Amino acid sequence: MTALTVNNQPVRYAMDPATPLLFALRDASNLTGTKFGCGTGECGACTVDIDGRAVRSCRVTLAQVEGTFVTTIEGLSRDRGHAAQQAIIAANVSQCGFCIPGIVMAAQALLRADRDPSDDDIRAAITSLCRCGIQPRLLEAIRMAGRIARGDETVDPLPPPDIDPAGASQIAPSLAPPEN
Ligand code: FES
Repeated sequence: MTALTVNNQPVRYAMDPATPLLFALRDASNLTGTKFGCGTGECGACTVDIDGRAVRSCRVTLAQVEGTFVTTIEGLSRDRGHAAQQAIIAANVSQCGFCIPGIVMAAQALLRADRDPSDDDIRAAITSLCRCGIQPRLLEAIRMAGRIARGDETVDPLPPPDIDPAGASQIAPSLAPPEN
């Protein structure tokens, strides 16, 4: 049994202590915002915050995170209101979106340590691989996130996330079955 805190909730995982944290989060806690990309520490899709540091969760075992505080993308903000999220949305960074949760988690750790990072700091802190080619927009977005975090810029408020299937017809009425 491994005890830790995930998104401010105490959790005890009855799993092999050698299990990667990534699998515990996704399979036992259903926190599927943390993505399984390469599984070898290269892509960054699985990045979470552990005790204030951005960590690739595929490369740490449950035994290694005993007693830590883990934050996943689901626990970062309920309304996508973190400066990194606001900026990434405002700058239209996402394409397929698969790597974005890991990028946001790396960005939030960077901005907590430094709200005015240089471009080199951003490149060093956010090493996620993205095949969509978002890097130029991402660099600008993280600069913007710093300005938002410092209070030097604001962006329009985001609409609330609507991932409730009951709301699907409100999102895409054209997908609703035709009425006879
Ligand atoms: Fe962990 Fe790619 S899945 S770095």
